[in-house]
Amino acid sequence: MKVKTIYICSNCGAEHLTWSGQCSSCNEWNSLEKQEVSNSKSNPHTRKKNAVITPPKKLSEIDITDVPRLKTNIEEFDRTLGGGIIPSSLILIGGDPGIGKSTLMLQMCSNIKNAKTLYITGEESLNQIVHRAERLLGINRDMLCLSETNLEKILPHIESDDYDAVIIDSIQSIRSDYVDAAAGSVVQLRECAQALMSAAKSTRTAVFLIGHVTKDGAIAGPKVLEHLVDTVLFFEGEKNYAYRILRSVKNRFGSTNEIGIFEMRDKGLREVLNPSEVFLNKKNMSESGIAVSAAMEGTMPLLIEVQALVTEANYGNPQRTVNGFDLRRLQMLLAVLEKRLGLKFSGCDVFVNITGGFSISDTGIDLAVSAALISSYRDEPVFENTVLIGEIGLTGEVRSVSQMLKRINEIEKLGFKKTICPSLGSDFDKSNFKIEINEAEKISVALAKFL
Ligand code: TYD
Ligand code: MG
Repeated sequence: MKVKTIYICSNCGAEHLTWSGQCSSCNEWNSLEKQEVSNSKSNPHTRKKNAVITPPKKLSEIDITDVPRLKTNIEEFDRTLGGGIIPSSLILIGGDPGIGKSTLMLQMCSNIKNAKTLYITGEESLNQIVHRAERLLGINRDMLCLSETNLEKILPHIESDDYDAVIIDSIQSIRSDYVDAAAGSVVQLRECAQALMSAAKSTRTAVFLIGHVTKDGAIAGPKVLEHLVDTVLFFEGEKNYAYRILRSVKNRFGSTNEIGIFEMRDKGLREVLNPSEVFLNKKNMSESGIAVSAAMEGTMPLLIEVQALVTEANYGNPQRTVNGFDLRRLQMLLAVLEKRLGLKFSGCDVFVNITGGFSISDTGIDLAVSAALISSYRDEPVFENTVLIGEIGLTGEVRSVSQMLKRINEIEKLGFKKTICPSLGSDFDKSNFKIEINEAEKISVALAKFL
């Protein structure tokens, strides 16, 4: 059999005939891996004479019986998935080592009622799994586990159609006998993921793949893995906080940007069902440099505390430091405040922090960031019990953001008395709310209402 040597990029999965230092497809350096492939297969595109061709159908002829989703009974997890697990789907769970992926999956298996699950580990021995499970609160001792790294021995379990969900921890530890490469290499990953995908699609079993993340935050191995699966969830969190966020970044069966919040306790992960209450520290609201905003994380409103510290710059260039907020956005806001309100930030060091270890990309918190900045600059606290919503434009206008109804509902639920927000338009019924709603079209107008 003729053997051909090709080079596969471990970042994007592109195939090259010669080695080079940089992948010409994704421009990644040192990512090409050597791979020998047998050349024996005939060209798949030369059609066989008697091949059966499936005729196309009209949309109206296609049978769409809604498949019921399998509930995991972990509300935050179900919501992130878009309402539960879809049978036959392939789901990738990515995250840094030690963030809690295995714990999450063990708890999911243990929580699923009226369904059969199988947890396959290629990383730990069954002994270790038992020790870990013992730590978890209320673990179901009847859940099924298997320690296996060989793809050919894993596939029959899925193909037997005995299980509603099979978890593979992790895809990087699995290898196929038919591929001559180490576990975790691109070729193995691609081969294993593809085989697991076909197995999942040919049965009702949903397959979860756990994937490690590299230093720069991508799932190790080719992007191919992300293209292949139906759903990609990221489990993330700051090292210094116990909070973990499960984020949906791709979902063929639901919306993306949906998140679930967990807290890592000594007895496993616990759902955080009232995040706004957990992340707000109402005690220090009377200090200067603090403002509250209602951000949207997917479909979930979240009240967050923005802290700013503006001090005179004593050494060299003034510093701008952010934690959980975009640095360029801060620079833009500072420029707008300087130009439109005449505040001199150029001689000041500026620090902005979103508490709770959150990273917020929703521009709806611009007004609150501005308020915290001005409050610290003037050393006067923002009015008590006030929540600020709105995006700031370059002319200093307060722009409308999405989901105002949900945000204002959350503010009222948490007992705040007043909100300052962009113009809500005539079809927004303010009489539904007990809190004072102050619309402001310009940052200069808003300023008078919060400071
Ligand atoms: P783990 O699920 O093994 O992470 P991953 O599979 O993503 O690598 O999580 C391990 C970390 O979580 C470890 O640092 C210990 C901590 N942990 C707890 O704090 N409480 C617990 O109940 C458990 C099981 C783990
Ligand atoms: Mg693990």
